[in-house]
Amino acid sequence: MSQNWTLSPQQVALLLDGVIDAGREVLTIYERDFAVEYKDDNSPLTEADLAAHHVLVALLGQITPEVPVLSEEASDIHFATRRTWQRLWIIDPLDGTKEFVKKNGEFTLNVALVEDGEPVFGIVHAPVLGTTWWGMKGQGAFKRSAEGERRIHVRKLPQPDTQPWYVVGSRSHSSGMFETFCSKLPTYESTSMGSSIKLCLVAEGVADLYPRLAPTSEWDTAAAQAVVTAAGGEVLDVNTLEPLTCNRKESVLNPYFIVCGERDPIWIDALKTAVYDEHLSGEQTAGFSPSVPYEHRANDSLAEVIWNRSSVTPAMRAQIKGHAGKCIWFTGLSGSGKSTLANALEAELNRLGCHTMLLDGDNIRHGLCKDLGMSEADRNENIRRIGEVAKLFTDAGIIVITAFISPFQSERDAARALFDEGNFIEVHVDTPLGVCEQRDPKGLYKKARAGQIKDFTGINSPYEAPAEVELRVNTDTMSPTEIISRLLKLI
Ligand code: ADX
Repeated sequence: MSQNWTLSPQQVALLLDGVIDAGREVLTIYERDFAVEYKDDNSPLTEADLAAHHVLVALLGQITPEVPVLSEEASDIHFATRRTWQRLWIIDPLDGTKEFVKKNGEFTLNVALVEDGEPVFGIVHAPVLGTTWWGMKGQGAFKRSAEGERRIHVRKLPQPDTQPWYVVGSRSHSSGMFETFCSKLPTYESTSMGSSIKLCLVAEGVADLYPRLAPTSEWDTAAAQAVVTAAGGEVLDVNTLEPLTCNRKESVLNPYFIVCGERDPIWIDALKTAVYDEHLSGEQTAGFSPSVPYEHRANDSLAEVIWNRSSVTPAMRAQIKGHAGKCIWFTGLSGSGKSTLANALEAELNRLGCHTMLLDGDNIRHGLCKDLGMSEADRNENIRRIGEVAKLFTDAGIIVITAFISPFQSERDAARALFDEGNFIEVHVDTPLGVCEQRDPKGLYKKARAGQIKDFTGINSPYEAPAEVELRVNTDTMSPTEIISRLLKLI
């Protein structure tokens, strides 16, 4: 959590009481007849979902009015807005609506505080069971029930020859992948359960593993993930074995994941086999939980399009390359030294064994952008295309270096917005106009002054110097070696 912001013990107490109160409200609906509607994806919705949503949103608004809320029941918030939220509540007012409708009691209310993509505080409350699990980063995890409150912790995996491993499965979603995974384990026992309670069973050391090889959304897992991690366990993406993150991408769907108290080569191998077999069988693609192979993403395409999911993720591509993709974006006047620096940087990265690609303004205008001139509209289209291409290279796990004048702030900002935080490194080559004009390596300034080239940047077309960049350099006063060594530190 950031240094000067944390939930106080009073706030935590109020939150726990508030969520338990919301649970009481849900119980009154549970105990009488209620209507069930079906959403577009065929999942059930009851009046209890909405009642819990309103109570929880009011509670959070009272305790932390400054922190925005993303709820399953009010999820229509564009990613462009959400991605600016460094801290947010992610809530699922009623997880396990199927269990609620079946009246087996295994449903929960889920409230998670997410900080920089990481669930750092979570409450999972199961009203019928009268049980609340909660956890906070740095403070530990707890279980509150009729017997009082006690600290909980994940358990050590037993030696497989002495005791079975306990594996939790989903009550309502089973999959071939789950069966394959279990068949590769040593002695194990499995039990089924509904909702986020499954993650909490691992948190309290009752179960060892919960492989979730079927679709879920961030609100289904965020609160329980905070409990699991505070209890010493992990919730890991099955492809990368990296912890799940929240609010870091447009889609709120989680990759397939596994909850564990402890990593062990035996189950990691079983998991790899299950993921790989499933991938080969072609029934489902690994990772992106596709019950359907595509999803609807907000877009401003002129055509009617969906988003096709791919089974190989950027992280999987990066894994093979040994480094993640990134974009190093040089901006500056013609003759400022962008191409020279970009070239020197690529040579050094290549020497270090990195996979790179250089996109240079002059060169790209020989092909991809040969239909564009130097009007403002054409330059904007030029930079839009380069931003998109650079993003594709980055997703391929490649370090892409671009050298374009890119004179306008709004176009550079739009390019940056395509990338995940930290993957777009903007370098302003801030060599003064006088120096560029004196160098005039291509004789273009001379032609522009003679009126032979119109719209020439710095002469009769503007260059908007960036206010904030990752690095600003001047090739007139700094040596290329010094600049490259500074750049390497940033990458
Ligand atoms: S941008 O504005 O769209 O980013 P870009 O980097 O592609 O420009 O420009 C590529 C090269 O075109 C420049 O390096 C320069 O050599 C050449 N050029 C030709 N006409 C112009 C002009 N009117 N203004 C600036 N550069 C020009």
